[in-house]
Amino acid sequence: MRTYLVTGGAGFIGSNYIHYMFRKYGDEIRIINVDALTYAGNLENLKDVENRENYTFIKADIRDREAIEKIFEENDIDRVVHFAAESHVDRSIRNPEIFVETNVLGTLVMLNAAKKAWELPDGSFKEDKKFLHVSTDEVYGSLEEGDTYFYETTPIDPHSPYSASKASSDMLVKAYWDTYHFPMNITNCSNNYGPYQFPEKLIPLIINNALQGKKLPVYGDGKNVRDWLYVDDHAKAIDMVQEKGRLGERYNIGGHNEKQNIEIINIILETLQEMLPDDDPRKKLVSKDLITYVTDRKGHDRRYAIAPDKIKKEIGWYPETMFKDGIRLTIQWYFEHEDWMKNVTSGDYQKYYQDMYQDK
Ligand code: NAD
Ligand code: DAU
Repeated sequence: MRTYLVTGGAGFIGSNYIHYMFRKYGDEIRIINVDALTYAGNLENLKDVENRENYTFIKADIRDREAIEKIFEENDIDRVVHFAAESHVDRSIRNPEIFVETNVLGTLVMLNAAKKAWELPDGSFKEDKKFLHVSTDEVYGSLEEGDTYFYETTPIDPHSPYSASKASSDMLVKAYWDTYHFPMNITNCSNNYGPYQFPEKLIPLIINNALQGKKLPVYGDGKNVRDWLYVDDHAKAIDMVQEKGRLGERYNIGGHNEKQNIEIINIILETLQEMLPDDDPRKKLVSKDLITYVTDRKGHDRRYAIAPDKIKKEIGWYPETMFKDGIRLTIQWYFEHEDWMKNVTSGDYQKYYQDMYQDK
């Protein structure tokens, strides 16, 4: 039975990945989820798998070398799927240090622990071991309208403290391949959306605010472009790269679904109107009048667009979920999980929201 060590599995993409893997493999695999449970980590995301015999949760910080080494000593780990990171660009602009500590130094701890556990006396590595580093398209910088796409060969040119920290971690993982032939893959994915996404990110923030009749903050002119991918498609891609990816390679993952932020907001408002029953009091609150243009994000990247040609050609992965379907599934999930939203937006979130948006 293969054992997966998933870091950051209590966050948005990590928890969706764990659900995907149990749906696909059932009892054939074992998953150990290591998460520090920061503001972004939430064990409620994993309630329906927590009693499985082939699932274990360990609360640990990836910066804690001793704790991470102990996990490798006590378990024969076959695969590391490394999601754990500070992930929100706006937070990185306010407080860059934690991004370097977690994303760069934490990744180094993970690499060293896996290398120590997997390396043989002759410097080669045990069979069928792999470290998959989950990264982002933001490491490539920013495109203008009419430019081409991000390819795996596009020079790394990050702009925010978040993307600089992710680019640094990518470089470390690549250096471990170049220097030691450490068995790894890197994936660089575009913007994800779907269930369990924390409402600091655009799509859940807009859904949550619109349903309460609160202002919908649009940074700058609202014409920045992101390439949106439904989170299950990302989970599937990660699994396929684990299975078929050539060691040492980087794979871009993207939705071929470029949209301006203002288009996304309009689609969400229209879909909410369609999906809410006439007698639901929230229907009257959802309105385009809530759209409010606010001060732009500092250093705001204009456009991200991924060319997922290599992963399609070599591995056979392509995005399956159309945005019009994915956004309905996402909204339906938020309708059915009002308590989840209430829980994550009580307490600290209120303070975060006030600090982040009061000057905008
Ligand atoms: P998230 O913020 O929702 O979750 C991050 C998880 O990591 C949380 O559970 C948190 O508790 C955990 N974590 C943070 N610091 C930790 C530490 N020091 N030790 C252990 N655990 C820690 O993030 P996400 O959106 O799910 O992103 C997951 C990964 O995917 C990140 O590496 C991110 O860079 C990458 N990514 C995200 C997107 C996206 O659109 N969200 C797109 C491409 C790549
Ligand atoms: O591209 C992949 C990246 O996507 C991931 O690596 C990051 O972890 C993830 O957070 C995401 O980064 P973005 O900065 O693109 O996502 P965010 O949801 O914060 O913002 C999306 C766009 O919407 C961006 O152009 C900024 C804008 N925005 C965002 C918020 C929160 C607004 O206009 N208003 C808002 O309130």
